[in-house]
Amino acid sequence: MEVLITGSGAREHALALKATQSPLVSKVFVAPGNPGIAEIAECLAIGPTDVQGLVSFRQRNPRIGLTIAGPELTLEAGVGDAFLEQGWAFWGSDQAGAQIEVSKTFAKELMDKYGIPTAASRSFNPNQRRQALSYFEKADLPIVIKEDGLAAGKGATIIQDLNEGRSLIKHLTDQDSRFLLEEYLTGDEISTTGICVGREFVPLLLTQDHKALFEGGPNTGGMGVITPLPFIAQQTEQDLYQTITQATLDAMAQEGLNFNGFLYSNIMMTPKGPRVLEHNARFGDPEAQTMLPLMENDLIETLMLGLEGNINQAQISWAKKYGVSLTLASGGYPGKYEIGRTIEGVDDANKLPGIMVMHAGTARHDGQLVTSGGRVLSVVSTAETLLGALQQAYYAATKINFEGMYYRKDIGQRGLNQA
Ligand code: AMP
Ligand code: GLY
Repeated sequence: MEVLITGSGAREHALALKATQSPLVSKVFVAPGNPGIAEIAECLAIGPTDVQGLVSFRQRNPRIGLTIAGPELTLEAGVGDAFLEQGWAFWGSDQAGAQIEVSKTFAKELMDKYGIPTAASRSFNPNQRRQALSYFEKADLPIVIKEDGLAAGKGATIIQDLNEGRSLIKHLTDQDSRFLLEEYLTGDEISTTGICVGREFVPLLLTQDHKALFEGGPNTGGMGVITPLPFIAQQTEQDLYQTITQATLDAMAQEGLNFNGFLYSNIMMTPKGPRVLEHNARFGDPEAQTMLPLMENDLIETLMLGLEGNINQAQISWAKKYGVSLTLASGGYPGKYEIGRTIEGVDDANKLPGIMVMHAGTARHDGQLVTSGGRVLSVVSTAETLLGALQQAYYAATKINFEGMYYRKDIGQRGLNQA
């Protein structure tokens, strides 16, 4: 069969690569893809939220036996609903199920109702400026303010200062945004990912992203991931999948929602126990590109098994290795940054053992690879030890260059301390 994937980042590059490795798959299309993906699949001039464009492409290409949503934007746009209406196999939730990610208020209310451990918070609508300010003035700092919509991982602001909080609340109410004020939690931040269909799922590896641009810095889409996690015991891991993934799927089913897709949950391991920070209705990025190279199964076969209602029959096996990814970002990201900078050295880095460079924000101009986004490349490295995987990734990064290139130098330190 042929496979269609939506999205244009490093996660989609990794999904496309995995799809091309499946013996079931004769061709992979990515809408719209990127120059790295173009080397392994056919890129389409169709955006990931273009419901009509995707539906008519699928109509014209009946050999497509599976469509996979990369980003949450595809789900929010209703591509899942449109495909399901046609009876086409689609990996990803409908709009109702995607609420678990799209609306922080929905997710919070669901978790509170079903006793799923999450940070204490209160939700405000844009007409409640006075109430929000008064709640804020009484709360302890730091506190977290979260916008209630999709914000590419950048919608949470940790407020340390009264004036900063007041002006953000004013800004959000002026903008007509709903938002949450949430207790600030500390601990190890980790993530679970499940391949989920209804109430059933198969757990994948635990991961640790580094969301901040630098320790204590502003939040980004993700600056680097390690997997698996040497500092989480197996029993704790099993408990997390029961008390968070299973409980969330049960809660959604109880509410009449039919969730299908990757459920990727960010969790803070606080001294009082795990607390969900956020659920996502899609694979994480950089989690996907860090984890998928370690997966020995055919991903497409596994997803098809899921769509046939048999996900609990899936047995996932993993290479006995560590995966690491390192995000190479444009200088200035997540704020303003320049694009169109010439990128050099990707081929050299790709030749190194254990290294795969996944494209995120790249474009080709007159044959030359240039930057086109904030997160430009994701250097993925696998090795038998975490230290080895990290060293390889950092060495590969020295081969790559573009003006203003920035990356964190401390990815995986927490894991190394406990490995
Ligand atoms: P979110 O948009 O909810 O995924 O939050 C983005 C990042 O902000 C998370 O990955 C955390 O690093 C941080 N964060 C979110 N909520 C909290 C919280 N309640 N306490 C501390 N840090 C948080
Ligand atoms: N790793 C961050 C995200 O996908 O949201």
